[in-house]
Amino acid sequence: MTEKLEFYKCNICGNFVEIVIAGQGELVCCGQPMEKVSAKTQDEEMRGEKHVPVVSKNGEELEVRVGAVPHPMEDEHYIQFIEVNSPDKRYVKRKYLFPHEEPVLKYKCHCDKVEARELCNIHGLWTSGETDARKQF
Ligand SMILES: [Fe+2]
Repeated sequence: MTEKLEFYKCNICGNFVEIVIAGQGELVCCGQPMEKVSAKTQDEEMRGEKHVPVVSKNGEELEVRVGAVPHPMEDEHYIQFIEVNSPDKRYVKRKYLFPHEEPVLKYKCHCDKVEARELCNIHGLWTSGETDARKQF
């Protein structure tokens, strides 16, 4: 059984999927069950490497950056996407990123609280947890 907005990955082919509508069945890829991906938090931050999304707001413009220190965006090591959800899971905004781009997502919203998540191609999934989006920058 899955839950809305969970991520799963296939450890054989690299497929990475998000649950849009939850169901009862088990997700299978390449002939084996897919692995549920849990987002890491600040407590697991590595030395010299910052991944936890940082949320701030200027008026109605929400801004999510990856790491208090900008994360590398090199060909071999980069952020693949940044996603923001409302805590009630009614709204989802995702931006896909590519090497050499700035790891930032900006958009206008009236939200008070959000959860931001990002995927590093080497270090996996990270979350801000439920964050007050009214913090001004
Ligand atoms: Fe990384």
